[in-house]
Amino acid sequence: MSWPGGQPASAGRVEPAWNDVRHWMRPGTLQLQSLPPLALYIHLPWCLKKCPYCDFNSHEWTATAAPGEALPEAAYLEALRADLAASLPLIWGRTVHSVFIGGGTPSLFSPAAIDQLLGDVRAMLRLEADAEVTLEANPGTFEKDRFHAFREAGVTRLSIGVQSFNDTHLKALGRVHDRDQAEAAVEEAARAFDTFNLDLMYALPGQTLADCEADVRTALSFAPPHISIYHLTLEPNTWFAKYPPTLPPEDEAWDMLDRITELTAGAGLQRYEVSAYARNGHRCWHNLNYWQFGDYLGIGAGAHSKLSFAHRVVRAVRVREPRLYMERAVAGNAAVSADEVPRKELPFEFMLNALRLRDGFTLQQFMERSGLPLSSIEPALTRAAQQGLVERDAARVWPTARGFDFLSDLQGLFLPD
Ligand SMILES: C[S@@+](CC[C@H](N)C(=O)[O-])C[C@H]1O[C@@H](n2cnc3c(N)ncnc32)[C@H](O)[C@@H]1O
Ligand code: SF4
Repeated sequence: MSWPGGQPASAGRVEPAWNDVRHWMRPGTLQLQSLPPLALYIHLPWCLKKCPYCDFNSHEWTATAAPGEALPEAAYLEALRADLAASLPLIWGRTVHSVFIGGGTPSLFSPAAIDQLLGDVRAMLRLEADAEVTLEANPGTFEKDRFHAFREAGVTRLSIGVQSFNDTHLKALGRVHDRDQAEAAVEEAARAFDTFNLDLMYALPGQTLADCEADVRTALSFAPPHISIYHLTLEPNTWFAKYPPTLPPEDEAWDMLDRITELTAGAGLQRYEVSAYARNGHRCWHNLNYWQFGDYLGIGAGAHSKLSFAHRVVRAVRVREPRLYMERAVAGNAAVSADEVPRKELPFEFMLNALRLRDGFTLQQFMERSGLPLSSIEPALTRAAQQGLVERDAARVWPTARGFDFLSDLQGLFLPD
């Protein structure tokens, strides 16, 4: 169901509201024996400057604000409160295991605003006592002690968008920070937090294998408990899609990935997901929950949710444009769509996530979280095993090294006919 204008489409027929829990709880063909763990995602949509490769829902504040006008922190927090309040019927009685404050650039918000936000969340939801609470932070958006203040506000894990430590490549990526600021941010994170993540990208315009290796070595010199390393992709509707930079050839990008995997392994970080490397005990709970097809409520501009009910899995999306989002959220009307995932698409949706994990998934997990019988994936699993893309035992299925390298082919085996 979509409500592009903010109202349910009615051609003589009244559509149920996106948060009408009785509608989602009515009988259906799926049988979910229990509901999966639940996480909360909060989107803060503003950045200092839009990066040319970025297709996230992020907006330059100065593009629409009056000169000198500050971020509308209070109004946005009010919208988030209203959005969360309107969403509560969909998650009544459930405990939230993690919170991820992502963006955009959440570190543009003041520690006082983050403190208020987490206070609101705790007042409205049952948050597990030792819940992981991650905040995304960009170098160049903090002054000394800011990270410490985020920690005081209840953030337990910082994720820093470093991307590269090389000034030439940072410039090519249109980043606002330089190497010194990246290093200062990582040092500060290591001081203020027991666990943190660095985001890097590779296969950058003009990057050589030696440059990539230098970036990874610099990152590892800070002994990070977690690193995420993404292959730079040219996303539709970005500046780079329109004016593509020259990127390293594909075989060089593969060499870079091999080097990244070797260097991180040598530093005691395990590649537990296609792009994620962690020391023991430092895997990201929140992201693991996505990959294990857990539930998440997403609030904030453009945020996505995936919520399970006894007989269906529902995906919802919030209004993307921040000002419109604020208007509609306070009216209890932030969702632009809420749709049941069609039964035949569930195997592919599940595999899109679960096969990104080195440990794969248990057959029990598949049945519990999709509500489908194993027979719905048996033929595709057999084909995947015959092609050497997965291995399995009586309880578990996991991708082989070849499966990891040809992940889209592997996932494609589970597409509906
Ligand atoms: C939600 S984004 C933004 C986090 C933060 N605002 C920043 O830019 O540092 C999370 C990560 O996705 C990665 N990313 C964003 N766009 C990408 C692209 N086109 N290709 C590969 N990775 C990308 C970057 O590493 C980025 O840190
Ligand atoms: S800072 Fe991050 S979210 Fe903002 S435009 Fe750049 S990549 Fe996108």
